[in-house]
Amino acid sequence: MKKQSVMFVPPLAVALLLLAFHVAAPQAAPPQAAMQRVPDNPLKSAAPTQPLPYSHKTHVAMGLQCQFCHTNPDPGRLMMFAATSTCMKCHATVGKNKPAIRKLAEFAKSAKPIPWVRVYSVLPGVSWSHRQHLGAGMKCEMCHGAVSEMEAMAEVTSVTTMGVCIACHQQHNAKTACVTCHAWPR
Ligand code: HEC
Ligand code: HEC
Ligand code: HEC
Ligand code: HEC
Ligand code: HEC
Repeated sequence: MKKQSVMFVPPLAVALLLLAFHVAAPQAAPPQAAMQRVPDNPLKSAAPTQPLPYSHKTHVAMGLQCQFCHTNPDPGRLMMFAATSTCMKCHATVGKNKPAIRKLAEFAKSAKPIPWVRVYSVLPGVSWSHRQHLGAGMKCEMCHGAVSEMEAMAEVTSVTTMGVCIACHQQHNAKTACVTCHAWPR
């Protein structure tokens, strides 16, 4: 019996090692993942169902820059979403017979913005602006994770929580007094 287990255990160990390697391989840090600076969202929220199956992975792989679709108009604190006409620059022709692209074309015709379901949001009343952060050299992936790997956008980081805001401010010697982010106490 002892002899048998000596014969059988090593191949099993090798198989487990190989399995571990294969499971681990896709997670080997891509540059974007390495750039995330805030902790993961412990709630692991699933991606919301969006009006169209838009994929960051597909579009960023084409070489489109984030700012092609997300600008931060001045004055303003938001990154905004691309105008439907920006999508139609390609989709007037690309995939125009696919159901999702037909739906996109209908949104474009209706002249109403696409009702994207929001993924990240801070409580109303908290002072937040992208501008100060981008101005201080913070990168999208630091707060939003490996966007270029995402088929569907999900809240993968906990960047909207107070503890995470403050932890990063401490690391960068940014202000941490309550009034930095709250209108109270005056
Ligand atoms: C071709 C246009 C396009 C490009 C390029 C693009 N995005 Fe987006 N982005 C969208 C659209 C459309 C949505 C809304 C649908 C969704 O959430 O997936 C979105 C949503 C998001 C959201 C979620 C916002 C929220 O809170 O609801 C984040 C964060 C984001 N993008 C970051 C990025 C980053 C970072 C890049 C560059 C690596 C990028 N995007 C490139 C079109 C684009
Ligand atoms: C630079 C050109 C370009 C721009 C701009 C662009 N797309 Fe795309 N999109 C593509 C290409 C290429 C594909 C892959 C098409 C395919 O596989 O047939 C694609 C695929 C898609 C699909 C999946 C279609 C399917 O069912 O397979 C959706 C949905 C989509 N895009 C939505 C959008 C939206 C929304 C925007 C604007 C926020 C946008 N695209 C902007 C080029 C673009
Ligand atoms: C310091 C952290 C941080 C950085 C850096 C950052 N974001 Fe955000 N982002 C947030 C937070 C927090 C929210 C939620 C804000 C709210 O509720 O209005 C958000 C919301 C968004 C939204 C949806 C709402 C909006 O603002 O219109 C988009 C799109 C977005 N981010 C894209 C980007 C892109 C693209 C970059 C890089 C150019 C980027 N973000 C850089 C933290 C960050
Ligand atoms: C990835 C790091 C990081 C995260 C996460 C982060 N911040 Fe910041 N924040 C900074 C840096 C760096 C500055 C710029 C400091 C400077 O210019 O002196 C800044 C500046 C600010 C300012 C302007 C402060 C002033 O000088 O008046 C506000 C307001 C602010 N952040 C709010 C927030 C809120 C709210 C959150 C969370 C939702 C947050 N930040 C998350 C790094 C971060
Ligand atoms: C760097 C930004 C930042 C600073 C500094 C900060 N907070 Fe917050 N605070 C937030 C954010 C973001 C939320 C919303 C968190 C969420 O949605 O989970 C919040 C939420 C809260 C809430 C609950 C919701 C509300 O608005 O009533 C309280 C209470 C609070 N903070 C108290 C404080 C106190 C007291 C201080 C000073 C000791 C402080 N905060 C400093 C960012 C900050």
